[in-house]
Amino acid sequence: MTGFPEVRLRRFRRTPALRGLVRETRLSAEQLVAGLFVRRGNGLREPIASLPGVHRLSPDEAVAEAQRLRGVGVSAVILFGIPDKKDESGSEAWDDSAPVQETVRRLKKDLPDLAVLTDVCLDEYTSHGHCGVLRDGDVDNDATLPLLAKAAVSHARAGADVVAPSDMMDGRVAAIRRELDTAGFPTVAILAYAAKAASAFYGPFREAAGSAPKFGDRKTYQMDGANRREAMREIALDLEEGADAVMVKPALAYLDVIREARERFDAPIAAYNVSGEYAMVKAAAANGWIDEKRIVLETLTSIVRAGADFVLTYHAGDAARWLEEGF
Ligand code: PBG
Repeated sequence: MTGFPEVRLRRFRRTPALRGLVRETRLSAEQLVAGLFVRRGNGLREPIASLPGVHRLSPDEAVAEAQRLRGVGVSAVILFGIPDKKDESGSEAWDDSAPVQETVRRLKKDLPDLAVLTDVCLDEYTSHGHCGVLRDGDVDNDATLPLLAKAAVSHARAGADVVAPSDMMDGRVAAIRRELDTAGFPTVAILAYAAKAASAFYGPFREAAGSAPKFGDRKTYQMDGANRREAMREIALDLEEGADAVMVKPALAYLDVIREARERFDAPIAAYNVSGEYAMVKAAAANGWIDEKRIVLETLTSIVRAGADFVLTYHAGDAARWLEEGF
């Protein structure tokens, strides 16, 4: 029996039950990490125009949001901070009373079993919007490392389970690991944004966080999206420096990078289904051009099929509900 008519692949597609038996990729709410934007205040829930359904939340509202997410089976969040004041070095990033740190403390108190991840970067906090301190009009790599490490330690002190550096400085994973261990946080994990492209898909995030660079772009530190071999070197280096998990970002335009990383490395791999990917789906759905539920579940399934163990996505809450309903 080598082919048609004895071989008919449609036999196992005949009913939902048969299809369920042979489904190769299964998506579950446990694999999803919801992204939350936090700022100082109380009872704040500000809509973000380019990210319909996502809000800037005060710490109390972030806890309420996390409770809702827990209710549909999402047990992990990643926090992004929106500071009150920005300065040259981004000093609010390591302020123990800043919104991210405050939200981490509250989440850990009210929802102790929630996994709390924090984005470690300076761009939201610097007046110029770049991911580190400047020298001669460019980001000074080595001078930025201790600042990132201070921010990571401050998040750990607040109770973060995982710190996720997204700055793309060389050597930052090692610098952060060293400072975490010195400060007495050997169990705090590092999820490195390892292969992060200089991408147009971050547009809505930058509106949400007010973090667009005031001059130039991020191409001297974020990767050229055309480079797959270099992405593998970035991942290998971050793992050597002590990253516990590595991330590919964005996800959809980089599925081949996720796949190759999966084949080469045994470490956990995350993928970031970023703001621009979310916004495009939302815009098309609002126009009635696509079926949002099916598009989201198909997209997330493709990211997991490519090889991601878990996915950061602003669709997390909706996707988890839809998974519960069955599709
Ligand atoms: C940097 C950071 C960015 C994102 C996550 N962390 C913005 C950037 O690099 O410009 C983008 C995430 C998204 O687009 O959803 N702190």
